[in-house]
Amino acid sequence: MFLKNAWYVIAWGEEVGRAILARTVCNESIVVYRTEGGKVAALENACCHRQLPLAMGKLVGDNLQCGYHGLTFDPTGRCVAVPGQSTIPPEAGVRRYPVVEKYRMVWVWLGAPEQADEAKIPHLDRLANPDWVGKTGQQFHLHCNYELLNDNLMDLGHETFVHITSIGSEEVVAAHIKTTRDENAVRVERWMPDHDPAPFWKSAIKLAAQYDGHVDRWQQIEFIPPCNYILHVGVAPVGTGARQGDKSRGIEGCVISINTPETDHTCWQFWTFMRNFQTDQRDVDEKIGQAVHDLLSEDVLILNEQQKNLLARKNIRKVDIGHDAGGIQARRLIQRRLEEEGTLA
Ligand code: FES
Ligand SMILES: [Fe+2]
Repeated sequence: MFLKNAWYVIAWGEEVGRAILARTVCNESIVVYRTEGGKVAALENACCHRQLPLAMGKLVGDNLQCGYHGLTFDPTGRCVAVPGQSTIPPEAGVRRYPVVEKYRMVWVWLGAPEQADEAKIPHLDRLANPDWVGKTGQQFHLHCNYELLNDNLMDLGHETFVHITSIGSEEVVAAHIKTTRDENAVRVERWMPDHDPAPFWKSAIKLAAQYDGHVDRWQQIEFIPPCNYILHVGVAPVGTGARQGDKSRGIEGCVISINTPETDHTCWQFWTFMRNFQTDQRDVDEKIGQAVHDLLSEDVLILNEQQKNLLARKNIRKVDIGHDAGGIQARRLIQRRLEEEGTLA
């Protein structure tokens, strides 16, 4: 069950050019490409004639020509040419998806086109703020349902076990978490005061602020259904007022992860780590991008294996623990949206 009336990231903007890119979102196969003027078009990946995937065709100017008998479609999906005849059957055409390029990502809308309001795209301010920098264009393809990835990101207590060589430390799993939910979002917050930082943060604050002591650390998660995840993280020299609202002595990062469902048991993770430190040292983009890539790869391994077990086993027991609060609330919010949409009716 996937929400239809939602914007889903199908690709980073930099992936979409004058070559046809085919990707499946919520079990719907879609092609995207850029017109000569630079606008992104999104069409269903099946010709209305005999269903050849349009990804096997080619671009002719702004139009997409099917690779079988040459029917040609404009960026709105309208058939504009049928080779060998002068008339075009009135019903000839393919589905066009509303599409928007925003925050360096390409978003498609799967539901009713008249409800495709651009204002419903979640605010990813860190990607629009010139004071924040980072490497974009990064992604993983996972062999798990997207809600397993949501769960993973909502419960960062796993860092202590999965990411102990980078961002994990005992303080993460031991910290008190505060979970809140309104009708649009779930938020989870965790503070880890006065401790020797995990390796990633120890090195980051040393390089960025020449500080090598204990820190106060925070994680502030915002989840917006169905699969949009924003995590504000950071560390500051201990007792410098970060928790009271003054993070100026610290260094901050923001993980954005858009967990687009592909099929029932696969998904995409479009992610970036933006930061507000060492912003003039762009080689740091690559270094931190690689470090975060490596630690997220540890999650990919876990999630793929978790999904295998879920599929292989019958009568699964599922015991919840306190750290699951955010993930459970996220699932409830998605469920409620599905009910509102009538998908579950
Ligand atoms: S299948 Fe596309 S033109 Fe025939
Ligand atoms: Fe993780």
